[in-house]
Amino acid sequence: MGGKAGSGGILAALQPTGSRKMSPLRTLALGALALPLAAHANDPYSYAQPDEVRVTHLDLKLKIDFPQRQLDGQATLTLDWKDPKAAALVLDTRDLSIASIESVDASGKTAPLHYALAARDKQLGSKLTIQAPQHPHEVRIIYTTAPSASGLQWLPPAQTADKKQPFMFSQSESIHARSWVPLQDSPAIRFTYDAQVTAPQDTRVAMSAPNDPNHPLNGSFSFTQTHPIPSYLLAIAAGDLAVKETGPRSAVYAEPSVVGKAAHEFEDTEKMIQTAEKLYGPYRWGRYDILVLPPSFPYGGMENPNMTFATPTVLVGDKSLVSLVAHELAHSWSGNLVTAASWRDIWLNEGVTTYVQGRITEALYGERQANEEALLSIQSLHKELARLPENGQRLAPKPGNVDADDTLTDVAYSKGSWFLRTLEQRYGRATFDNYLKSYFDHFAFQSITTEQMLDFLKPNLIDKYPGKMSWDEVKEWVYGTGVPKDAPVPASPNFATIDKERSAFLAGTLDAGKLDAKGWNTQEWMYFLDGMPDAPPLARMQQLDAAWHLTGTPNAEIGMRWYVHAINAGDKAVWPAAAEHATRIGRLYLTMPIYAALVKTPDGLAFAQQVYAKAKDGYHPLTQQAVEALFAKAKAGMH
Ligand code: BES
Ligand code: ZN
Repeated sequence: MGGKAGSGGILAALQPTGSRKMSPLRTLALGALALPLAAHANDPYSYAQPDEVRVTHLDLKLKIDFPQRQLDGQATLTLDWKDPKAAALVLDTRDLSIASIESVDASGKTAPLHYALAARDKQLGSKLTIQAPQHPHEVRIIYTTAPSASGLQWLPPAQTADKKQPFMFSQSESIHARSWVPLQDSPAIRFTYDAQVTAPQDTRVAMSAPNDPNHPLNGSFSFTQTHPIPSYLLAIAAGDLAVKETGPRSAVYAEPSVVGKAAHEFEDTEKMIQTAEKLYGPYRWGRYDILVLPPSFPYGGMENPNMTFATPTVLVGDKSLVSLVAHELAHSWSGNLVTAASWRDIWLNEGVTTYVQGRITEALYGERQANEEALLSIQSLHKELARLPENGQRLAPKPGNVDADDTLTDVAYSKGSWFLRTLEQRYGRATFDNYLKSYFDHFAFQSITTEQMLDFLKPNLIDKYPGKMSWDEVKEWVYGTGVPKDAPVPASPNFATIDKERSAFLAGTLDAGKLDAKGWNTQEWMYFLDGMPDAPPLARMQQLDAAWHLTGTPNAEIGMRWYVHAINAGDKAVWPAAAEHATRIGRLYLTMPIYAALVKTPDGLAFAQQVYAKAKDGYHPLTQQAVEALFAKAKAGMH
């Protein structure tokens, strides 16, 4: 699965391609941050000053205004003042219009506060400094969001599956919560929240808190998240959402024409929850629901507490891509329960989660499936490592000289999970499972650094069972570049066969139609295509398509790989189908590689620009930014 989310390259750049070769993983999430800017020392991506004051609770009132594409908001922040000398509350915002700010005392009495909204920083947004020398218990901000808010997408009815109602959704990770709520937007700071949301009649609103599947569509919704969460897990969506139960504590939310297919694809959700619980202790959040978004959702999945957000591109009918659910569910332990304290520590979220995902996948779908997914992730890690500068290859990059274009990619997901699989292999499953469970228990509802994780690992695993792994080996995994030589590689007889078939096919000794591909699952097709050379011979590609009808495939994982190869091979006949794929799907990981392949030639660039002009309105702000940055880079490269 290698860091598909990294379809953002989490700390990665606005420029999706970089000077290096396009990786599907490298697009954007944070924006092109090279060095920490003027922000707080502990989190270069936030202006908050948590040593002075911390938000402990958010009371949010929102009105969803579809015609204006904006949220009218009132955010009341409960504060825990830490420093008696602190004079101000500093918040993160991006493109918010602030109407007024007031303090609220214990009796509910309000008084206006002075504030200053700094000029907009391209990456960080606008620092909001609220003068509060009296250390009020609460501060209330009345504001509206911008139609272009980086963390929201607004879709008119025509851009939804059922075309009846408008749709909106948020994507807050990494630092986009600040574009729809003024807050301390750092994963080190956790708060509980309440929300009251008004929306048009007939619209269903969902948030990253327990949702009532039987809530009446009366235009008024309330939510309470009783567990302290970091800001990147704040989430909201609203639209023509139907609900279908998949188990005693799970349901899928999706547009009416999609919900049945989604419920079928995700019918194993309860089994997944039980599998994770058996390994790592109780699921602590109550319900676990999945919201299937329109295809413009820029990621595969997002682990919003109680309500995973998911791309519809995994609804392929055979459950072959449901490890996405295993992944997002796994974040209920790794990420949402035990949270990376900074974006530099993000492997604690994504690496541990990818490991747990593999365990759930293995338990439900067998070792063959889990090993294939691990091998795909290893393969894409190797490709990524070949392009990354040294500091980008470390699980925990050294602070200071982190080039954000290279901060978090497949390394967090794939190398991170590989480290845990190595620990599992050295210590044995029983011991390692106990250890990991104790880690989740020990740090539950805390945000921790890599060093805190290591301080727990040493006495509780490494020193406790001597002779299995040295501390130097641990440090090599965490702080070293590349991957340790003896890292265990899972076995896959099917992949070995596919390697042989691919070689024979490319050598011309095996006809496309003679490939033994009838029984290939999604991952086997992905592996076959991932192993193709960069510019495969055109004639071979055409034979492959004639035999296996890859053009127009409903499976976008296969489609993305196929179109990229066909475009690279110079097969203009696939351009219309590739354009249809890239227009319909806004998921960065599945769409950017198509654009990246096209822009390599002047003709292709011109075509890509035409495609984008039509597709743009349907894309999420992140996808728009990524495509535009790609074009800018391609044009610069051509002159
Ligand atoms: N938390 C990530 C998504 C994310 C990461 C969004 C960083 C923005 C910035 C999520 O859990 C994830 O990893 N999603 C993957 C799917 C997974 C199966 C690898 C994705 O979106 O492809
Ligand atoms: Zn993840």
